[in-house]
Amino acid sequence: MTKAADKIIVALDVATKKKALELVEQLRGEISFFKIGLQLYTAEGPEIVRAVLATGAKVWLDLKLYDIPNTVARAVESASTLGVQMLTIHLSGGSAMIRAATAARASDMLFLGVTVLTSVTEQTLREIGITDGVEDQVLRLAKLGVDAGIDGVVASPHEIKSLRREFGDRIKIAVQGIRPSWAEPDDQKRFMTPREAIQAGTDYIGIGRPITGNAQPHEAVARILEELSY
Ligand code: C5P
Repeated sequence: MTKAADKIIVALDVATKKKALELVEQLRGEISFFKIGLQLYTAEGPEIVRAVLATGAKVWLDLKLYDIPNTVARAVESASTLGVQMLTIHLSGGSAMIRAATAARASDMLFLGVTVLTSVTEQTLREIGITDGVEDQVLRLAKLGVDAGIDGVVASPHEIKSLRREFGDRIKIAVQGIRPSWAEPDDQKRFMTPREAIQAGTDYIGIGRPITGNAQPHEAVARILEELSY
């Protein structure tokens, strides 16, 4: 069985390589998976990915790729060459884009699709011409992705149960919008605790500020692991 610590992915949402590597060093004893997103990647480029991988940790490169099929496929090839363990694309790019992307990835890479961003509301969907509700749209895009070869989806914790109901263990699920019971909600409104998300059936939980914004990040991790241990 997977250890609780192996389900936690810490989001390195910081501006510099120096700060990111400090966090990795502080947390490497417990945490073996880190997420590099648009902020850090735009600032530091592939070098930060190589540097985190060089510590022996795994990297989720959360670039949420979305472009014409050929461009996305070439970007996926570049990420595969870097050796990251997990990569994201947007599923709303459609089946041709998803197929081109899955065909271009390294075989040992976990390839996840973003369904509907957690910041999106029903009103946002209306703005872009989608008349269905958020959950229907999540399930539609997840099915599109699964049929086109993705390994799983990134979702909000509130969608874990319906995704499991629909796809069982055929997909991996990674969720964000996670807050331990003792942490500040920050700008999160509909969050779950790590324990609730794991009980609901997620494979991975991405956590940022409750750990990275804490003056003692390793203590925050220890508290989260303690919460998960009983
Ligand atoms: O809020 P927190 O700092 O834990 O966020 C960690 C990561 O999860 C961030 O990279 C953010 O982009 C993502 N996130 C998300 N949906 C949310 C909250 C955060 O995808 N509701």
